[in-house]
Amino acid sequence: MKTTEVETDPWEPASDAVPTSGSHTERAMILGVLMIAMMLTPGRTRGEGAMDTAPVRYLAPLRLWVLTTGQTSYVMGLNELDELQTLYWGGKLGSDHDLSAARLHPGRASFDSPETMSNLEYPGWGGRYYNEPALKVTLASGVRDLVLKYSSHEIRGDVLEIRLKDIQYDLFVKLTYKIFPEEDIIRKQVEIENRTPQVVTVESAQSGVWYVPAGEGYRVTYLTGRWAGETQLVQEPLHPGAKVLESRRGNTSHQLNPWFAIDEGGEADEEHGRVWFGALGWSGNWKLVVEDTPAAHQVRVTGGYNDFDFSWPLKPGESLSTPPYYGGFSNRGFGGASRLMHRFERNEILPDHTHPRVRPVLYNSWEATTFDVNESGQKALAEKAAKLGVELFVMDDGWFGKRNDDHAGLGDWYVNPQKFPHGLQPLISYVNSLGMDFGLWFEPEMVNPDSDLYRHHPDWAMNFPGRPRSEARHQLVLNMAREDVKEYIFGALDKMLSENNIRYIKWDMNRHFSEPGWPEVPLAEQKEIWVKYVRNVYEIIDRLRSKHPNLDIEACSGGGGRVDLGILERVNIVWTSDNTEAFDRLGIQEGFSYAYTPKIMSAWVTDVPNLDGRSTPLQFRFLVAMQGALGVGANLNNWSAEDFALATRMISTYKSIRETVQNGDLYRLFSPRQGELAANQYVSADHKQAVLFAFLHSQQYLGPAPTLYLRGLDENATYRVKALDDKLLEKQEALSGAFLMRHGLNLDLTGDYASALIILDRTE
Ligand code: GLA
Repeated sequence: MKTTEVETDPWEPASDAVPTSGSHTERAMILGVLMIAMMLTPGRTRGEGAMDTAPVRYLAPLRLWVLTTGQTSYVMGLNELDELQTLYWGGKLGSDHDLSAARLHPGRASFDSPETMSNLEYPGWGGRYYNEPALKVTLASGVRDLVLKYSSHEIRGDVLEIRLKDIQYDLFVKLTYKIFPEEDIIRKQVEIENRTPQVVTVESAQSGVWYVPAGEGYRVTYLTGRWAGETQLVQEPLHPGAKVLESRRGNTSHQLNPWFAIDEGGEADEEHGRVWFGALGWSGNWKLVVEDTPAAHQVRVTGGYNDFDFSWPLKPGESLSTPPYYGGFSNRGFGGASRLMHRFERNEILPDHTHPRVRPVLYNSWEATTFDVNESGQKALAEKAAKLGVELFVMDDGWFGKRNDDHAGLGDWYVNPQKFPHGLQPLISYVNSLGMDFGLWFEPEMVNPDSDLYRHHPDWAMNFPGRPRSEARHQLVLNMAREDVKEYIFGALDKMLSENNIRYIKWDMNRHFSEPGWPEVPLAEQKEIWVKYVRNVYEIIDRLRSKHPNLDIEACSGGGGRVDLGILERVNIVWTSDNTEAFDRLGIQEGFSYAYTPKIMSAWVTDVPNLDGRSTPLQFRFLVAMQGALGVGANLNNWSAEDFALATRMISTYKSIRETVQNGDLYRLFSPRQGELAANQYVSADHKQAVLFAFLHSQQYLGPAPTLYLRGLDENATYRVKALDDKLLEKQEALSGAFLMRHGLNLDLTGDYASALIILDRTE
């Protein structure tokens, strides 16, 4: 392991610092000029500029750090004032020699200060800084000015730590970078360290800033939505000003998701063009500020804890860490960017990334029985589910406390004795005897006022004393920031898991915060509730996982309200949306796939007509759901023999392609947003299989469905092409990758809600 340690006196320039007597406003150009001078300095030996392949390098003469992934470079440097600046992020650069030409933005007028014009890697709010700051504090002295300069750095393999320090106070910021070379992703994380003798109040703590190359014409892509309509893709041009994407609701939210992509508007598409993307790993209040600064034409995306209602008193010796903030780059368009994210999540984020397994086909009782669960009814469903080939049977809401509807019971995590007189054991044993694992629904963070828990501990719900407590779905939010609440919830879940063979829990959260009071702690600490709540939820999950290592967890928040890279470090799968209507799902799933891997995208087949009255054929519903982690949520008691026959065939087909769907590369061929045909293709990691899903919403004017040009195949390989429905291809045959990608396939899809699955197995 290569280690470099450079400790410097923060009051003095670093030992190899650029000597300068220039004024502050001149400084920005000086580094570039000096670097060019260095390039021309006699005595350079041949090969000095050759590319070193270490993921993190410090080029001492240039005072630059170069982070290198497989296809990208990220360069930071110190100016003559020892301020850390981002110099470059994008496709891989060539030799180190070139880096001496990296430029910083000059300041132009007294209104365009150099602090604001240059790309400070981690800007404190102070001096003449006017963009979104990464850190804003009030010191005990009343000083609200923070100017961060380089202090030291350390390289440990693929990790770089840089310490910054205020020009006067012992307030340090440790910036940690980790490189993920295969996925072209870099993680930024920050720790704010108070080494002053007094309390420092942190008012904004961001994880960092990502800068794309300066210029105009950029576009931002993000995910918005609502309950039953999550992850809708929005693309819009950026103009000067700031666009704020955020959650103030206590969790990640359905409304906006902490992911973004920036591209050169008009140039990037699914498979081409430069796309910079990023995501926050945080399941509480978060904020992404996408700024296009008018003077520098600089697009920058600052992300971290939402500073709304945020205040964190840091006592002497304490530190505050921020959520991980990931950034990546692809020059293969949005498809390339999502494939990197998917790979990254599977290889580095998901809790089972070191020992991955394919997701089992699950059955969930919710839409069949809602709260009306009991032993015999669940056993009957389990028997039918097992015959279909289901591998995991999940009993949803209604099994605990006095839970007969959504008015009562949350908080009372004991088995309802009327519904299950002998506990859950007879049901679980039966499910296991049918060859399935058993899973159970919980909503640990909530309490109904009509519950034993609330009657004993009304103070455990977050509240402002004497003020109303707003209910949503007849429930209040427990103050998970409290240690006693955290321990109670951990204990209740641990008991259930220790006493029963539960392999899977669905962890739900069915409302957002309101009246987030925490009267038991000193006033100055009460706003910590937003962060400490989430940290304690994470801690409970982490402890449960370590005590019950075979446990899988599904995150749910009224559907997709808690999907982010923070929860994904702890859960195996997420519930994508309460909207299971198959045509709507095409759009929700498409947006989801921009940021998140299909492996974690739980997708159920449910009954029709759906809530919106729409009815699509069972095959259409199956194929839509088979594009993620397949589940069945229908009332099997109402299914016909034909339904069972088709479903059994579909589930067995899914098992033959799920490795490709869950762990392969996704190519979005046709978007449901853009026409009547939607199509997605998946290519397995070993390139031996590809699967193609196509959906026709409604044929008009007897027009043929468009040709599907496949992607990601080996043009010299031959593939045996098999259609799920034999009628869809005129004849089945072996076709070359070149033919499939250039000539394409014409599927005979007609009518409304037609669907097709084509499986391509490589023969040589
Ligand atoms: C939420 C979930 C559903 C179901 C219900 C149970 O709405 O998203 O899947 O679990 O709660 O009350």
